[in-house]
Amino acid sequence: MKKFLESVSQKMQEAFEAAGFEAGLGKVTVSNRPDLCEYQCNGAMAGAKLYHMPPMEIAARVARQLEGSQVFSRVEAVAPGFLNLDVKGEFIRDYLRGMSVEEKFGLEMPEKPLKILIDYGGANVAKPLHVGHLRPAVIGESVKRICRYAGHQVIGDVHLGDWGMPMGLVITELQERRPELVYFQEEYEGEYPKEAPFTISELEEIYPAASRRSKEDPQYKARALETTHQLQAGRRGYRALWQQILQVSVADLKRNYDDLEVEFDLWKGESDVRDLIPKMVQQMKDGGYAHLSEGALVVDVKEETDTKEIPPCMILKSDGAALYNTTDLATIMERMELYHPDKLIYITDKRQELYFEQVFRCARKTGLVEPQTQLQFLGHGTMNGKDGKPFKTRDGGVMRLENLIREIREEMYRKIRENRSLGEKQAQSIARQVAVAALKYADLSNQAGKDYIFDMERFTSFEGDTGPYLLYTIVRIKSILNKYAAQGGSLQGLTLESPESEAQKELMMKLTGFGAMMEAACQETAPHRVCGFLYDLANAFNHFYHAANILGEENRRRKESLLALLLLTRDVMETCIGVLGFSAPEKM
Ligand code: ARG
Repeated sequence: MKKFLESVSQKMQEAFEAAGFEAGLGKVTVSNRPDLCEYQCNGAMAGAKLYHMPPMEIAARVARQLEGSQVFSRVEAVAPGFLNLDVKGEFIRDYLRGMSVEEKFGLEMPEKPLKILIDYGGANVAKPLHVGHLRPAVIGESVKRICRYAGHQVIGDVHLGDWGMPMGLVITELQERRPELVYFQEEYEGEYPKEAPFTISELEEIYPAASRRSKEDPQYKARALETTHQLQAGRRGYRALWQQILQVSVADLKRNYDDLEVEFDLWKGESDVRDLIPKMVQQMKDGGYAHLSEGALVVDVKEETDTKEIPPCMILKSDGAALYNTTDLATIMERMELYHPDKLIYITDKRQELYFEQVFRCARKTGLVEPQTQLQFLGHGTMNGKDGKPFKTRDGGVMRLENLIREIREEMYRKIRENRSLGEKQAQSIARQVAVAALKYADLSNQAGKDYIFDMERFTSFEGDTGPYLLYTIVRIKSILNKYAAQGGSLQGLTLESPESEAQKELMMKLTGFGAMMEAACQETAPHRVCGFLYDLANAFNHFYHAANILGEENRRRKESLLALLLLTRDVMETCIGVLGFSAPEKM
């Protein structure tokens, strides 16, 4: 379906043309003075220069063309030359009827869907997720769902940190503690046990202990480095142990991401491209892109137009070791070979912006991607505490994501139990669902690049611009629909009629904006667009709800029309929260 404002603009453009002016001037937007009119067109102002005519004159001529219009109920030329517009209820009704029967409410699908690969989450093996992992997971999941809904083919990859020194550290520490384990016997040729010799809690204790020790004890550090090399060189026992570290850790990470309703299509990691690195390095050398600089292999990526210094991209250290970006570049190579995406999106902390600029330039320059492949970095800001510094636990430590989720759940549970008549078990499960909404909405309603402050009281409130408020609104709609059904009413075949009140028209107008909003959210990779739309929609709905007596309406046609509007509102809202990555309960 054509976007609503496009359909309206089309009528305005015809009027401009019929009045003897350029059609392109007839662009209609939502009014920025809703107290004066619903929509507006500023084309006459722009036309004044073009036609050497007072804008008021142009506006008046256009307005005359629109007398008796099927679309506009009011077209008013006002000084100095604006066109103030109201749209007919019938036109809005017809548009919404169309939306109700079309797939995805008539959202236009791209002519050529893109294959998009999103790299988000950024979890590391053997380390628990902490609050810093919240934003890339939440934003990435939403961007994935938005792009998918908008018609693209999207693959989400967690890109695990599963290779390199941290792995060597864990193995070294295990060897220190339990040298008798079969994994450490070099002459051993048999099968290794299926069961890992540690639990996730042990693993989580081992890594920080090893990391601490390596900072204090240079000999220990040297051993860990050697272990890392041997692991990477393929020592059997180390590889087997590493597999188990991976297994235990990934199972736990999945549980954590599940709690957040975040799911990845791919659980690939840095280790997956280890064998591609030599080939890639060779290509970069053969192509004449990489050169030695103080022993290290680098690719220059600065450009003449740079206003700030962009340092070269280091491919190999002077000792031949690979770096973080070596892996990222090899991963680009692998992604191009395996999936051939049209676009790659990376979602990490915005402090990695320069880093990704280097990686992208290097990938382009060395031909790892095609000239038309789009590379996008979406940097997010930090979630801060009330002191304005990155969020910490009460005692100043790094907070585990798990604990943060638990705290929100507990608070939600308390609030849900407070004044509602739900049993403990039901309240628990609803609290889980609402907590995810509280956390995710609080995050997504901010522009990704901005920092925000963690505020439990505000995030979990049922009032204001919050996840729980939106869910509450949806639940309210569902309960009216359920009541109607319980009274024997059918929700099939309801027909929407023209609005009969200001508040109803307001709600209907908000719904017409769905397609344009979703398209923009995808194009701009901007979940906050969906949030803004949802919040406005929820407000419009509640305003309408308070003024209407839906189930008490005596006129059947009218009542069915109101119910049809409720159905559409519910469906649009649930679609929106779905792409944000959460869902609504039946009750709360
Ligand atoms: N694991 C990394 C970290 O903890 C984040 C990975 C981000 N993605 C990437 N392709 N580099 O910092």
